[in-house]
Amino acid sequence: MNDRYLDAVVLGRRSLTERIAELTLGAADGRPLPMAEAGSHLELRFGGSRGRFLRHYSVVGPLSLDEAHEPFWRIAVQREDRSRGSSYIHQHFRPGTRVTVSRPIGSFRLARNLPHVLLVAGGIGITPILAMMRSLLVRRQSFTVFYGGLDRAAMAYVDEVEAMGGDAVTIHEGRRDGHPDLDALLAWQPPGTTVYVCGPGPMIDGLRDAAVARGWDPDRVRYEVFNAAHRPEDTDFAVRLATGRVVEVGAGTTILDALERAGVDTLSDCRRGECGLCLTDVLDPHEGIDHRDSYLTIDERCASTQLTICCSRAKGGLVDLDLS
Ligand code: FES
Repeated sequence: MNDRYLDAVVLGRRSLTERIAELTLGAADGRPLPMAEAGSHLELRFGGSRGRFLRHYSVVGPLSLDEAHEPFWRIAVQREDRSRGSSYIHQHFRPGTRVTVSRPIGSFRLARNLPHVLLVAGGIGITPILAMMRSLLVRRQSFTVFYGGLDRAAMAYVDEVEAMGGDAVTIHEGRRDGHPDLDALLAWQPPGTTVYVCGPGPMIDGLRDAAVARGWDPDRVRYEVFNAAHRPEDTDFAVRLATGRVVEVGAGTTILDALERAGVDTLSDCRRGECGLCLTDVLDPHEGIDHRDSYLTIDERCASTQLTICCSRAKGGLVDLDLS
C-alpha cells in the first residue's frame, strides 16, 4: 500500500434503517486509526483483487460527546437500487471483509470562528453534517441543524442528532411536513450565517438559489453533493472512442469505471467531479451531456466540448470522446 491507501478490515456492521448500513473500518494490522477531521471522506476500493468499485463515504465520527476519539472510521452506506457499488457493499461486507481505503480526504472543511453555522442535511447527507455538528459542539460555536428525510424510519442517526444537538435541531419529515421551505430557513438565521449542506443536488441548488436571491455572498453556502455520479433514473449508454471502439456504460456505473474495466488509459483523482483531472474532450455530444461535476463553469457546461468522466453522463444513448 502507498501512503494514500491502507489495508483495512470491516470491524462491525449494523443496520441503521432498512436501506442504510453502518460499517466500522479498522486497520488490517490492528493499529489504531487517527481521528478524521469533521467533513472528511474516505475512498473505498473493493470488489475483487483489482478493486472493481471505488466509492466515497464521509467519516461519521463518534456518535456522542462522551467519546473523544475512536480508533476506527465509521461510515454509513445507503443501498441505491441502481448503484452496483452500494449493493455490493450491502451484499458482501461483513466483519472480517478486507477492503482498501484511503486516508481521510478533507475536501468539505468546516471553517473556524464563523459567527453562526447552519448545517443542512438531506437523507444520507447527514453523515458529514453529524460530524460537523459534533465538532461545533466541542468548539462551543453557535449553530443550527436542519435534517430532512422521508420519515424518521428512513433517517440515519436521527436520535443521535437530536440527543447531541437538542433545541438547535429541526427534523423535517417530507412525508409529514411536505417540501422544506429553504428560503424561510435562511430567513430565520442570524446575520453572517454560513451554510454547510450535504444532500441531493436539488436541495443544494435550492439553498444556493435562495441565498443568491437574498443577496448572500455565494461563498456562504458550502456544499457537498452526495453521490453526484449516481441517480435512480440513470440509464445505460455507450461511449465511442476516437478509434471507433465502443464501451458500454451501465446505469449503475460511471464512464470512468467502465473505461478502466475496458483497459482504456484514463486520468482521475477525486472521482466525484471536483478536481477536473478526468476532464476529457468530447468529439460529439449527440443528444447532449448530463454534467454532474462542480468543476466546470456554466459556460463550459453549455459548450459541452468537455466532460468529467468520473460522474457526468450522456443524455442519450451515445457520446463520442477523444480517447483511444
Ligand atoms: S476525477 Fe476529479 S473531477 Fe473527475
